[in-house]
Amino acid sequence: MEYRRLGATGLKVSELCLGCMTFGRETKESDARKILDRFLELGGNFLDTANVYAAGASEDILGRITRGKRDSLVIATKVRFNANVFAGKPVAPNDIGLSRAHIMAEVERSLTRLQTDYIDLYQVHSWDFETPIEETMRVLDDLVRQGKVRYIGASNFTAWQLMKSLWVSDKYNYARFDSLQPQYSLISREIERELIPMCRAEGIGVIPWSPLGGGFLTGKYHSGQKPPEDSRLAKQDLWGRLQNERNYRTLEAVEQVARERGRSVAQVALAWVNQQPGVSSVIYGARTAEQNEQNLGAIGLKLEAAELEALARASALAPEYPVAMQARLPGAPRL
Ligand SMILES: NC(=O)c1ccc[n+]([C@@H]2O[C@H](COP(=O)([O-])OP(=O)(O)OC[C@H]3O[C@@H](n4cnc5c(N)ncnc54)[C@H](OP(=O)(O)O)[C@@H]3O)[C@@H](O)[C@H]2O)c1
Repeated sequence: MEYRRLGATGLKVSELCLGCMTFGRETKESDARKILDRFLELGGNFLDTANVYAAGASEDILGRITRGKRDSLVIATKVRFNANVFAGKPVAPNDIGLSRAHIMAEVERSLTRLQTDYIDLYQVHSWDFETPIEETMRVLDDLVRQGKVRYIGASNFTAWQLMKSLWVSDKYNYARFDSLQPQYSLISREIERELIPMCRAEGIGVIPWSPLGGGFLTGKYHSGQKPPEDSRLAKQDLWGRLQNERNYRTLEAVEQVARERGRSVAQVALAWVNQQPGVSSVIYGARTAEQNEQNLGAIGLKLEAAELEALARASALAPEYPVAMQARLPGAPRL
């Protein structure tokens, strides 16, 4: 397992981060324990969850299964949403968002569920249009100074939102975001237009979520066939949205590299994300111990330039203005 700095910080994280979103949902606690133990056995140290995953059960489970192992782990969680929203239940007005009130209440709940007195990486789950970013950065800075939180990160931000947050931190000398957690895979490459160049320029570590496209890039989905019944894409009705010509062309390219390399489709898809510039660690998911075993086989897998190029070509997005116009300028990043 390779360890990399999280952005410009001195914190070392494993090249793969175990995503714990399924814990307490489609992955029961005994399987979560097996998945975690194997991940740790192979050198993993980085875990990602959120206050809302399985309405808090993911954090609860992590708290129990990491007992006695806490010191060597880098635990990341998130704040902003309220699980009631996803369950269609009412939410009290101050029990959601990035206000001082909600963040201060929620950090205590996460600490309790995780059975720890500090969170290594506290991430805001998305932008909040109803709270000034100055208020959010100030309360996050307070938590860092209090030692409840060690590093802070953003998730699902646009480039202007992240840049504005950094500007507020600079202006008031608050702790700054050290990482961005965006959706990124061979089938979701939009962040290459603005966010990745921005993160590289500003020393922000990119830690992609859904590197397997939620399972699409694992070889179990086939054009013209129904998805397996126990798969997430079938259950969450996401399947229809992913079925298009570009995604199947991409999947075929991944399958071809996998065949030539004697690797699984998932391993090749993970390796591609892992080798993209600016990426500190890749947050993968596994519903079962078998999937976990297969995905951990991506540790140390390095694709060659021609393979990276073939995958990038098959999955290329059309460049958009003004990035397209700037692409011809000397020194512009390759799209
Ligand atoms: N910040 C955010 O907004 C956000 C959003 C989403 C996720 N995340 C984070 O990112 C983590 C990973 O997200 P993700 O679960 O969407 O990532 P992913 O790695 O793209 O997808 C994981 C899913 O794909 C399927 N799968 C995984 N390995 C497989 C294999 N070897 N063979 C066959 N199927 C396989 C499983 O689903 P099935 O077996 O059920 O099909 C599994 O739950 C989450 O745990 C969470 O920590 C963050």
